[in-house]
Amino acid sequence: MFFEAQHTHSPIHRISELAQELLFYRINESDFVMDATMGNGYDTLFLWKKVKPTGKVIAFDVQPRAIYQTKELLRNNGWKEDDPAVELILDSHSHFVKYVDRPLKAVMFNLGYLPGSDKEISTSWTEMKCVMDHLVHRYLIVGGYISIVSYSGHDEGKSEQAELLTYVRNLPSKYWGVMEITRSNAAESAPKLILIERKE
Ligand SMILES: C[S@@+](CC[C@H](N)C(=O)[O-])C[C@H]1O[C@@H](n2cnc3c(N)ncnc32)[C@H](O)[C@@H]1O
Repeated sequence: MFFEAQHTHSPIHRISELAQELLFYRINESDFVMDATMGNGYDTLFLWKKVKPTGKVIAFDVQPRAIYQTKELLRNNGWKEDDPAVELILDSHSHFVKYVDRPLKAVMFNLGYLPGSDKEISTSWTEMKCVMDHLVHRYLIVGGYISIVSYSGHDEGKSEQAELLTYVRNLPSKYWGVMEITRSNAAESAPKLILIERKE
């Protein structure tokens, strides 16, 4: 497949933007998608632009500041509070089944902590595993995708990434396509992008 001329590419080392590029042609208007780690809202904005006006993005974060930042970003891009194509939820992604009543086409994770905020509030493998189990067993549709940007530069991130890699590498290849992308000529701790596709 060839990219359309109007889509501008970001440098390939910006791995969170690469995640968006890989999902760009795999998400359509009217899809139901999830941003599991809202943060400053860049992935929520990307997903909203892809699925509006008939689809929906549901986004989670445990910090009120993330909701505030994401609303600001969306508003600056033309979003209105009464737009049903976005639902921002102040809760852990580990509780997403309380809010999601139908299967998802795509889920984005950007792990770690909110840049410029309290580093104590970081994602954890325990909560993430809970989401992954639900997605794998029920909530991701065939032809659906999970993208995960994972960092191992700090101690917690290191163990989170190790558990995550063990989990995704053990997904049966008959049903799941799993790719790991990283900068080969950078430090071992450079961020990794994991892209997962449900095959059948
Ligand atoms: C690296 S930031 C996400 C960046 C975001 N994708 C963006 O585009 O700006 C990680 C976020 O995950 C949030 N987080 C941590 N644990 C969480 C959980 N259990 N459920 C939902 N969000 C969580 C943090 O509060 C933080 O805002």
